[in-house]
Amino acid sequence: MVADHRFEYVVLGSGIAGLTFALKVAETGPVAVITKKNRAESNTNYAQGGIACVTSTEDTFDLHVRDTLEAGAGLCREDVVRGIVEEGPARIKELIDLGMSFSERANSSTRELDLGKEGGHSKRRILHAKDITGREIEGALLTALALHPNVEMFENHAAIDLITRRKLGFTTDNRCVGVYVLDIKTGRVETFASRHVLLATGGCGKVYLYTTNPDIATGDGVAMAYRAGVPVANMEFIQFHPTCLFHPKAKSFLISEAVRGEGGVLRNGAGHAFMNGVHPLKSLAPRDIVARAIDAEIKRTGAECVYLDITHRSRDFLQNRFPAIFAKCLEFGIDMSVEPIPVVPGAHYQCGGVVTSPEGRTELPGLWAVGEVGCTGLHGANRLASNSLLEALVVAHRAALAVKNEPPVPRLKSLPPWESGSAQDADEMVVIYHNWREIRQLMWDYVGIVRTTKRLKRAASRLRSLTAEVQDYYWNYKMTCDLIELRNLVLVASLIVDSALSRHESRGLHFTLDFPETDTSAPPSDSILRPG
Ligand code: FAD
Ligand code: SIN
Repeated sequence: MVADHRFEYVVLGSGIAGLTFALKVAETGPVAVITKKNRAESNTNYAQGGIACVTSTEDTFDLHVRDTLEAGAGLCREDVVRGIVEEGPARIKELIDLGMSFSERANSSTRELDLGKEGGHSKRRILHAKDITGREIEGALLTALALHPNVEMFENHAAIDLITRRKLGFTTDNRCVGVYVLDIKTGRVETFASRHVLLATGGCGKVYLYTTNPDIATGDGVAMAYRAGVPVANMEFIQFHPTCLFHPKAKSFLISEAVRGEGGVLRNGAGHAFMNGVHPLKSLAPRDIVARAIDAEIKRTGAECVYLDITHRSRDFLQNRFPAIFAKCLEFGIDMSVEPIPVVPGAHYQCGGVVTSPEGRTELPGLWAVGEVGCTGLHGANRLASNSLLEALVVAHRAALAVKNEPPVPRLKSLPPWESGSAQDADEMVVIYHNWREIRQLMWDYVGIVRTTKRLKRAASRLRSLTAEVQDYYWNYKMTCDLIELRNLVLVASLIVDSALSRHESRGLHFTLDFPETDTSAPPSDSILRPG
């Protein structure tokens, strides 16, 4: 059958990684940008703190490299770190030329960027647009893209699975040749043929019950790549952000680390600044350390949350520097200028992902992965704050250059249509929701900030039976976005657990009571999972 759509480039995802890549390749051929909800809905859109980049004369590339390596706990690839850090200023300049405007310093006679500070950074180096950096970046990229005649946007379209020559029965020259995509509004599965498919589907925060991520973050890219035979790495390193707003009605709202960068102090219910004895950087220590200390404090005191206190700064300052956070807190009756903000940790960022080269190339020809979905070696065992937007910008640029220099490959004349079940039973559909909830709860309970082998094994066993149940639905029931996401969630959860079980040490974001020390007897190694 002739494919429903044929494009030179198919981009899955419309966050910073997908949009940057699409803009850069559009002059060389037609591009489809496929995105699950509306075009702006992405983790990118909610980024608050900003982009880490050396722009100040008081800062150096060496210091940014050193901070990144230190946070990454021995697992970063130093060449990758240096390359990305040093390329940052050029990519930031392009973003500014596109129309992105970063906050500037008040009271400065010359135009100077206002640089924020976050955990683990030894210098002020975070470029930001107040506390809505992501929304501004997303807006600038979408505006630029809307003007491009070669780009077609498919909103409310969810990619289901990659199409490879191997899956079509060819025994030679395996490569990715397209993707099956659900049109969520019509319920029809469409075939997109393409020489180059870019995974830019972001992370997997929704695998956990409590997360800073929006609903789109269900690990679809990692799951699709793994099913297509591509290895993934370091999935045990899930970063928990220390400070999500704690309020029964506040769904996934982050209180930026930049609040601590401006002097915010973490306190327990009795007012004690409990980070003081934990790390020299106190409340601004790297995230893994702060999240663990909060977890320990909550367990020790039996309280539901801890508090972030920035009441020593003026109301004017707070309203101007953090307008969105200030307004959101007020919506819930919290005036952050006079009372501390209740906070808890939540799953925030996937440091591992689809294994790629520093230009986003995967092991499968024709398949690229950029942004949170990919694992270049920048983050190691723990991402330094505000390095992810930087990585996505730099690697998307490199992927766009690399893809343009690829030798031409012949197209397949036809692709088989999608086949799936047609059953629709309202009772059974409720079970999908229950399974979804069970996965997220068990990941939170057994595969959280502090782990043990026993709990990980319990999670692995439960996930095995959930996998079997989900497979059953998958083949028999009509395809829906919920079902696509559930199938991906259960696979990604299993990858996280398997990676965690394979690491017999504590390192960075992976902390287990059974192996509380970092193994120094051998060089640190990635945990790579290869599909069987
Ligand atoms: P995303 O921006 O998440 O985009 C993924 C896209 O893929 C979305 O459009 C989604 O709809 C689409 N998609 C997913 N699955 C499918 C599918 N099956 N089919 C079709 N489309 C699909 N990082 C920083 O560096 N600095 C910060 O200040 C910062 N703050 C953050 C604050 C919050 C609240 C959160 C959640 C994250 C923050 N991060 C920050 C992390 C950073 O925002 C993300 O890592 C980054 O934006 C990821 O970009 P991306 O393009 O890879 O993916
Ligand atoms: C934040 O603003 O705290 C998030 C920054 C990040 O995740 O890098």
